Amino acid sequence: MFRSKNILWITFAFCITTGSCEDVYRQSGTEVKMDCLGADPNGEIEWKLNDVLVLAKSKRGQERRGSSHVAQRARIERTTLKITAVKSEDSGVYTCKTDKHTLYVVSAHANPSLVLHSTDTNLNCEVPKDFKGTICWSTKDSKSCKQNKNMIVKSVTSDNAGLWTCHIKNEKGDQVFKLDVTITVVGPLNTAGEVTTYEGDPAELPCFLPAPSRLPITGGSWTHENTSDISFPALMRTGSVVKWNSTGVSADKVTFSDEPLNKHFNVTLKRVKDDDAGVYVCSLVFEGGKSLSAKLTLKVLKREGAASDNTSGGSDTTWYMPVYGVQLWVWVAVALSAVVLVGLVVITVLIHRRNKRMKVRGKKRSE
Ligand SMILES: *[C@@H]1O[C@H](CO)[C@@H](O)[C@H](O)[C@H]1NC(C)=O
Ligand SMILES: *[C@@H]1O[C@H](CO)[C@@H](O)[C@H](O)[C@H]1NC(C)=O
Ligand SMILES: *[C@@H]1O[C@H](CO)[C@@H](O)[C@H](O)[C@H]1NC(C)=O
Ligand SMILES: *[C@@H]1O[C@H](CO)[C@@H](O)[C@H](O)[C@H]1NC(C)=O
Repeated sequence: MFRSKNILWITFAFCITTGSCEDVYRQSGTEVKMDCLGADPNGEIEWKLNDVLVLAKSKRGQERRGSSHVAQRARIERTTLKITAVKSEDSGVYTCKTDKHTLYVVSAHANPSLVLHSTDTNLNCEVPKDFKGTICWSTKDSKSCKQNKNMIVKSVTSDNAGLWTCHIKNEKGDQVFKLDVTITVVGPLNTAGEVTTYEGDPAELPCFLPAPSRLPITGGSWTHENTSDISFPALMRTGSVVKWNSTGVSADKVTFSDEPLNKHFNVTLKRVKDDDAGVYVCSLVFEGGKSLSAKLTLKVLKREGAASDNTSGGSDTTWYMPVYGVQLWVWVAVALSAVVLVGLVVITVLIHRRNKRMKVRGKKRSE
């Protein structure tokens, strides 16, 4: 193995003797071309990495592979050395007879790049060990640049989502390369916080993501924090489709969508009872086992003046129930009076007609 001291010495010697001394930065996975400046394309060419032969080309154009690990991905085109899909271990000093290039293979990662809301992610900017400059990270909004190869973004929110850039600067402080990574935030899971409903009414329990999840959802459900009276559906994944699994669900208590779900995970409680009140938790489980959850408080109100379930003693109060602002007994009284009145009118009219008819008959008979 070549020691970095020796590499430095070679670098130094070349720069002094040939005056041609170039630093080349490439992102890992890309291609690099390095030219042997001033070499005769019809002459013999020999490319070395850290003084180990990569490729040689004879005057007649015959190629000879060296023992360097790069040889498999290298080719010589005229005087140019071309390497495909560079890796970090390809970094080093490349020399031909008259020329010298120092290759720095760099890369940047966010791990993970799909981040659950409120969890951490690591940003990492990889440069070869003998790189002498500085490295810092910035976002598109930030003016400052955090001086570090590695940094942890703690408890991510949507503010952290988007492009992060690793700036690579040489010893003189000039930016020589930059690499972008993207952080995608999944979540947070939202509920309404509080839902209020009347006894006997349905209650929709909302639960949703701001956007369809980029991380596959593998499970999840609703639970009542203090009772297990209600069996909620569970989320199931079939292929790429997420749906509620209705097996074992309290069908008399819960309704839910039968459609594929991607950001809405609401369910509806039917005919809410007083003891349905309390804290409900909606949760999603993602590939890898991590999860998000959100709480919601359901408040159940008694209907004002309503007899509710109280049928026995209820009739006493029913008469005083307000209907369009007037107590019920008043309406009933008015209705009864109206019926009596109409009845009286009808009877009067009938009697009047009968009397008329009898008079007419009496006249006919007397004629
Ligand atoms: C409901 O459950 C939570 C935790 O499961 C507990 O902290 C809380 O005291 C319980 N509340 C009632 C009213 O039982
Ligand atoms: C629904 O859940 C039950 C048990 O909880 C399970 O046996 C069944 O396979 C699930 N259905 C589907 C379609 O995954
Ligand atoms: C409830 O979920 C459905 C899809 O399952 C969605 O279309 C609807 O908008 C949701 N309602 C609310 C209030 O979030
Ligand atoms: C039902 O009615 C009775 C008598 O009117 C009353 O004492 C009781 O508190 C009522 N119960 C409810 C649940 O309203």
